[in-house]
Amino acid sequence: MKILAFETSCDETAVAVVEDGRRVLSDAVLSQADMHAVYGGVVPEIASRKHVEAIAGLAEQSLKEAGITRAEVDAVAVTYAPGLIGAVLVGLSFAKSVAYALGVPLIPVHHVRGHIAANYLAFPELKPPFLALCISGGNTLLVDVRDYTDLKIMGSTRDDAAGECFDKAARVLDLPYPGGKPMDDLAQQSSGGVYALPRAKVSGCDLDMSFSGLKTAVVNLAHNAAQKGEALDRAALAADFAAAVSGELVPRTMEAAKRAGRSVIVAAGGVAANSRIRGDLERACEREGCQLYLPPLRWCGDNGAMIGAQGYYEYLAGRVADMALNAYATRDI
Ligand code: KG4
Repeated sequence: MKILAFETSCDETAVAVVEDGRRVLSDAVLSQADMHAVYGGVVPEIASRKHVEAIAGLAEQSLKEAGITRAEVDAVAVTYAPGLIGAVLVGLSFAKSVAYALGVPLIPVHHVRGHIAANYLAFPELKPPFLALCISGGNTLLVDVRDYTDLKIMGSTRDDAAGECFDKAARVLDLPYPGGKPMDDLAQQSSGGVYALPRAKVSGCDLDMSFSGLKTAVVNLAHNAAQKGEALDRAALAADFAAAVSGELVPRTMEAAKRAGRSVIVAAGGVAANSRIRGDLERACEREGCQLYLPPLRWCGDNGAMIGAQGYYEYLAGRVADMALNAYATRDI
């Protein structure tokens, strides 16, 4: 089954063709990051408008690269939530038109389910059940993946997402947007241990997380250093920051796996590219005897193929939408 998949939830316009949920025939991604970088973050209206301009051309490109005609598309999958509402609406409306014109099923896909499914593309042997750590620019979730379409949230951030926190801290350190990768690179230059950063606990919900205090602590450190005319050890701060974020995520991931009775752990989303988090997960899984799947970097960020992968399993579970399908800025997984 060949699925034409669309993803436009943030600042990447992405269209892919995926066969039977596992084989990527094409994967076209057009990032707008450079356009938003001058503003220090994503400007929602610009994101929507750039999706409008790019999506049809990218769809044509994706079909061409896959070596198939429009008539060979068996179904259309699309991110319907969560994300920047205007951006999601562009992809959704376009995908609906394509499904309508071709007379093929329309499959709604939750963006975070897509991030998890990116691992099915990278690891042919991977099957649920497993515990997924989903960390991206907009979401931070611990998910028990009981089956391909049966997912249960075990913990989540109460405020900022991990990626958002990386991006804000990067801004304070004068690093370009999106800041996760530059922060990661800067952190490599120091072994840290210089700055004491706060760790948050959500009372009564020990698998939930909070990153806003950490973000504020970095802002305050930079502000105080500037006021006193002191130089900030930027590399040490980046390293200590990564350690603090990882310290929130990794122990909770292991605990969630234990509670759910899972010995397989999967990382997903843009922040899963972070070297400190990857290293800490590797060590923790080795210690606890868990099997760990870390997606290759190309499958961490937003892409259309992950939507095509999850779309296949949604289709098999009978989750097909009609033409009244709407977009949502937030939606349970
Ligand atoms: O999954 P993604 O591409 O988009 C969303 O679905 O949100 O994630 C983007 C986020 C950004 O916040 C970016 O700074 C972060 O992933 N990111 C990283 C790294 N690479 C990307 N964060 C930490 N370390 C990295 N190496």
